[in-house]
Amino acid sequence: MKDFYDHSLLPYNTFGIDVKCRRFIEFDSVGELLGVLPSLRSQDSRPLLIIGGGSNLLLTKDFEGTAIHSAIKGMDKVAEDDSHVLLRCGSGEIWDDVVAHCVDNGWHGAENLSLIPGEVGASAVQNIGAYGVEAKDLIYKVEAVDIASGQTVAFANADCRYAYRQSRFKQEWRGRYIITHVTYRLAKTFTPSLGYGNIRHTLASMGIVMPTAAQLRSAIIGIREAKLPDTKVLGNAGSFFMNPIVGRDVAERLLSKYPDMPHYEADESRIKIPAGWLIEQCGWKGASMGRAGVYERQALVIVNRGGATGEEIVALYERIMQDVKERFGVEIHPEVNVI
Ligand code: EPU
Repeated sequence: MKDFYDHSLLPYNTFGIDVKCRRFIEFDSVGELLGVLPSLRSQDSRPLLIIGGGSNLLLTKDFEGTAIHSAIKGMDKVAEDDSHVLLRCGSGEIWDDVVAHCVDNGWHGAENLSLIPGEVGASAVQNIGAYGVEAKDLIYKVEAVDIASGQTVAFANADCRYAYRQSRFKQEWRGRYIITHVTYRLAKTFTPSLGYGNIRHTLASMGIVMPTAAQLRSAIIGIREAKLPDTKVLGNAGSFFMNPIVGRDVAERLLSKYPDMPHYEADESRIKIPAGWLIEQCGWKGASMGRAGVYERQALVIVNRGGATGEEIVALYERIMQDVKERFGVEIHPEVNVI
């Protein structure tokens, strides 16, 4: 257990922003969390900031409260039938270690989520997703501690109301629970999901038509590494914005003007437009403002070109939002948590 005062959050955010928090707590077990909980209810520990891998976080200033990080580890197969296994993971496990463990054991469904930065707890808050698969497709149960009452609670997938990068943990339950474990349901049969973008093309270039799970995982890792910056080299938080979902009328208006605009059906009445494309059209791809910039190979990613402050990144992302709004009449919103 760690309990520090005036602690730097630099190692806890992949954007590489150097700010401090007044108090920092890291717990290794539910017992430790329950032990420290009463002190978190006092006003001088507030507000609380629950940090996962810090890969979806933009810190704009020193945090005048308590940052809390789960270091609960463990990946345990807790149930199994002919077709599936249930894998219960500590919220502090690295997400990609879970994917690797599943692939190694012949438990399937997580391959397309390979190399997404972050930890297990965040996977259940953020409903992380990539290449046609979302965490919600795998989540079976989420266990958490209710900060106010100290009760341990468990939620089924349907309780969490998952949607594109959304869950109740991000909405009306924000700040209410600390997630301790997530149980994923994985299939024993491998049914690869190859429909998204260039997966098949990438596999073909590896000479593969029908991949094994390990081959699919390495193809996904290859695609991500080619498009997304390594946080160890260039600070970033993955996709900075969510892809906007607009009404069919808006999409049709835009398509008549920009027939090449990529777009996907979100549901019967709404269309998802890649924010990366909108941002690129506004001329931001590869551009910079101060020490913050837009990644050369994927305009949805804002990068810290070295020593950027949170304010510099805010100035850049607000400018981008404004330009996209003026040019296309579409609002885009950060996917990352801006604190
Ligand atoms: N595009 C551009 N210019 C760009 C970037 C993208 O024109 O600079 C176009 C592409 O040509 C393509 C479309 O936008 O037609 C979609 O691009 P891509 O497949 O790269 O995916 P994305 O929509 O930009 C989303 C997720 C990523 C995830 C990929 C793959 C969100 C906010 N982002 O990005 O997730 O890896 O799909 O599934 O939904 C993350 O959340 O941090 C993240 C990296």
